[in-house]
Amino acid sequence: MKIGLLGYGVVGSGVGKIIDDGLTWEVRELEVARILVKDESELKDPRMTLSADEILNDPEIDVIVECMGGLEPAHTYVRKALENGKYVVTSNKKMLASYCSELFDIARKNNVTVHYEAACGGGIPWMASLDRTRRVDDIISFRGIFNGTTNYILERMSKEHSSFADKLKEAQELGYAERDPSDDIDGYDVRSKVSLSCVKAFDTVQNTEDITTFGIRTISEADLQYCEDHGLACKLLGNGEFHHSCISAYVIPVFLGKEDVFANIPLNFNAIESNSLTLGRAMFYGQGAGSLPTAHAVVQNIVDIWKNQDPEINDKFPVSIDNSRHEGCYYIRTGKPEFFLDAAAEWISDNTLLTKKMSLQKVAGMVEQADDETLFIAEVTA
Ligand SMILES: NC(=O)c1ccc[n+]([C@@H]2O[C@H](COP(=O)([O-])OP(=O)(O)OC[C@H]3O[C@@H](n4cnc5c(N)ncnc54)[C@H](OP(=O)(O)O)[C@@H]3O)[C@@H](O)[C@H]2O)c1
Repeated sequence: MKIGLLGYGVVGSGVGKIIDDGLTWEVRELEVARILVKDESELKDPRMTLSADEILNDPEIDVIVECMGGLEPAHTYVRKALENGKYVVTSNKKMLASYCSELFDIARKNNVTVHYEAACGGGIPWMASLDRTRRVDDIISFRGIFNGTTNYILERMSKEHSSFADKLKEAQELGYAERDPSDDIDGYDVRSKVSLSCVKAFDTVQNTEDITTFGIRTISEADLQYCEDHGLACKLLGNGEFHHSCISAYVIPVFLGKEDVFANIPLNFNAIESNSLTLGRAMFYGQGAGSLPTAHAVVQNIVDIWKNQDPEINDKFPVSIDNSRHEGCYYIRTGKPEFFLDAAAEWISDNTLLTKKMSLQKVAGMVEQADDETLFIAEVTA
């Protein structure tokens, strides 16, 4: 089976290596036939080209693997690949979460499929397990640490009592965080992964903007001191819940009891849990990023296509997000406490409160009204 590889960076070169090394008989059936690179100086292999059209229009190529990242031109190339009747595997959660509705439609019309195991949870077989669970069962909910960078920062901050800025810098020096870390620390990376998980878990395609999202950009040492004093750990969790007529989908820092299994996920690891009717709780843990772990997930998808084991992309249902269905108690530190007087169950200090039990939609509305860029919010589940 011939593969056209778009992008030869961290993930793309890992895919090239796994296929070229061919450790198993299945992988030896695959061949990276062409590789798209961006700059003439990168043309170091006869398979490499600067022309995307040469790859996308090559009738010999069966599968396009997109590992370029970003929205464009990744979206245009993937669309063209599907229109040309080629299967697509992508590790690009941002692009796919933004355009999945359109791309799935085009795939269906052209009798091909789009695969994205690596886009969500890197090397962890999270998407495959959702597909497998869904053959027999209904998913009730999922939650997870979908972002290793923020998990690393939160763990190091609480262990070393150091500032967010220091630990972000450390994560950048270790290569865990990008130079512009906004997608990670503002929760948008997790939001894309929650959106793609909703496709598999609930058969529903969502507009990512409808997923309520809070990140950790404003977390302070005082917030983590509160956790330590109360035997809690802070984790950034992505969540989805099925309520039949609607779903809840949200990203929020959570203060968890130390006995919660998520409280003990270390460093830059990912951990994701599904809860379904007959299987109950099942958890997946591992490297959510890195060249070979992520490439492993990409190659698993290619082998599925080659073995014709690609799960059919079902019709997606127009079930909308309603975060009034999720209720919790929230820790809020804000420079504008006057906006939260009605919500407070307890004032921890002049600017920090614990709310009464209330819906996520309601508290998100209050946060929006307060318009306080210093505000930090976490759900307290312990
Ligand atoms: N790294 C991980 O562990 C990981 C894990 C899971 C998912 N992902 C996702 O996988 C995707 C790729 O990530 P990555 O870490 O491999 O990124 P990367 O190291 O930056 O690799 C992307 C490569 O694609 C090239 N590229 C970009 N636009 C191109 C174009 N128009 N034509 C040809 N080449 C182009 C880039 O070249 P230049 O550098 O010259 O721009 C770069 O070599 C992203 O969507 C990321 O979110 C990554």
